[in-house]
Amino acid sequence: MDPLRILLPRAQAQPLLPLPAGVPAPSVSPRLVPRRRARRHRNGAARMLPASAVASESPWKEQEPASGEKDERFDWLDQWYPFAPVEDLDLGAPHGKMVLGIRVVAWYDRGAGEWLVFDDACPHRLAPLSEGRIDDKGRLQCVYHGWCFDGRGACKFIPQAPALGPPVHNNSKACVASYPCVVQNKILWFYPRAEPEHRDVLQRKRPPFIKEIDDPSFVTSFLVRDMPYGYDVLAENLMDPSHVPYAHKGLLRGLPRLVDPGREEYDKEGGVPMAVKVEDSSVNGFASSQGPGYSKFVAPCTYYGSPASKKSEKNKPHIMLVFIIVPVAPGRSRVMWAFPRNFGLWLHKITPRWFDHIGVNAILDSDMYLLHIEERNFAKAGIENWQKSVYVPTSSDGTVVAFRNWFRKYCRFQVGWAAPTVDQLPATPTKDKLMDRYWSHVAQCTSCSAALKAMKALEVALQVASIAVVGLLTVAKGTLLTSVVQRAVIVSAAVLCFAASRWLADFIQKNFYFEDYVHAYK
Ligand code: FES
Ligand SMILES: [Fe+2]
Repeated sequence: MDPLRILLPRAQAQPLLPLPAGVPAPSVSPRLVPRRRARRHRNGAARMLPASAVASESPWKEQEPASGEKDERFDWLDQWYPFAPVEDLDLGAPHGKMVLGIRVVAWYDRGAGEWLVFDDACPHRLAPLSEGRIDDKGRLQCVYHGWCFDGRGACKFIPQAPALGPPVHNNSKACVASYPCVVQNKILWFYPRAEPEHRDVLQRKRPPFIKEIDDPSFVTSFLVRDMPYGYDVLAENLMDPSHVPYAHKGLLRGLPRLVDPGREEYDKEGGVPMAVKVEDSSVNGFASSQGPGYSKFVAPCTYYGSPASKKSEKNKPHIMLVFIIVPVAPGRSRVMWAFPRNFGLWLHKITPRWFDHIGVNAILDSDMYLLHIEERNFAKAGIENWQKSVYVPTSSDGTVVAFRNWFRKYCRFQVGWAAPTVDQLPATPTKDKLMDRYWSHVAQCTSCSAALKAMKALEVALQVASIAVVGLLTVAKGTLLTSVVQRAVIVSAAVLCFAASRWLADFIQKNFYFEDYVHAYK
């Protein structure tokens, strides 16, 4: 499905970061054996493994909280948070999102030519400004009673205030809180402190910068999806390479098989030991490596890396895997997913973004229910008991353990929400609601929503055409359509139009609304 797949080298290493369908791993590594050869090993030729196969690993040591650890805390409010990729933001309308427990609205100030992020509550009676509009003067208008705000959050117009009365709009209570914000790496970021002393925060601290996203020799396509599980569960999932062949079975065709010296039995999915090494752990995140691949967690939102070495030669095909992990609310998170690459540029130009999103959404769907329930199981055990309630004896869980250690040591197992938040997981809805694609992705993706609109129109057109053709047959049966052949052609056209409309309806339902992923039959 993913057009990238055809660009891949035949042999690939299993990546440190979970890969989407068709994303290339580093160029051929001596650890690899082609798929056909691995199958022979499964059939009993395990002793013939090449000497360069993946070495067997030593048991992973769970890290217990050390007594007397320095009490360094992660400051969740002194960080930049992503709002959305700008390509998904309509310049003519305000956009609302919840991030870090606060509702914010982003809108484009056409006078200043910049994106702004405000509190999503009108100072009049707290209606959401994200449901508002941009007025003729380019101001943000609250549509409940028409109050208007400029780019600094100052109230400029209260329709109900008499022109000759006191200038009540100048009162500081009529202002909206405005957050520092910046567009970097084609993403709108904001800093969740609206106090005046933080206005110049950009001079002191910027969002993490991924140079490949801005490199003109690379192409990047973003995807955003709201997930029905929390920040920490999303983070550990994205940092976990060993779940990929199992939880996403059938969606990542083309990944090679690795071998484990001494092993006689391989399963169909091809899981093998992974020697993950974690280094440079601090309050600000950590780095990890696996074979030539590397990854880096820049707390709290950015996790990026490459299945190839950092020292990859210039001008060689190179791909970065970038995941932005957004805390939304307890039990809710958002992922932004991008894979800047410097090859297949022509394919990127001719492939609509929605087409890529179909594959990525299927990958995100396939472990969604697992993670939603896993989070509830963690909650039952007490999230502060994560280290005690799980059993992670192999180094393939190394990055997950490193993240959980970071979350324990510097965050005391808690996201530092920017507003008072009831720390309770939402109820589990039915699977079609839990895995809903429309509200979690399509409605906030300019490419998918445009594709959906066009496909729905085509579906209606096909239905109308099939009815019109049947009508023509009835009316012109004895006059224009005199032969059996003519009538057969017309009937076939009607059937084809109807069948195409049904096929399209099914395609729309599965790719833009809901399709279950049944692991048992994959
Ligand atoms: S609540 Fe916004 S104008 Fe009244
Ligand atoms: Fe999309």
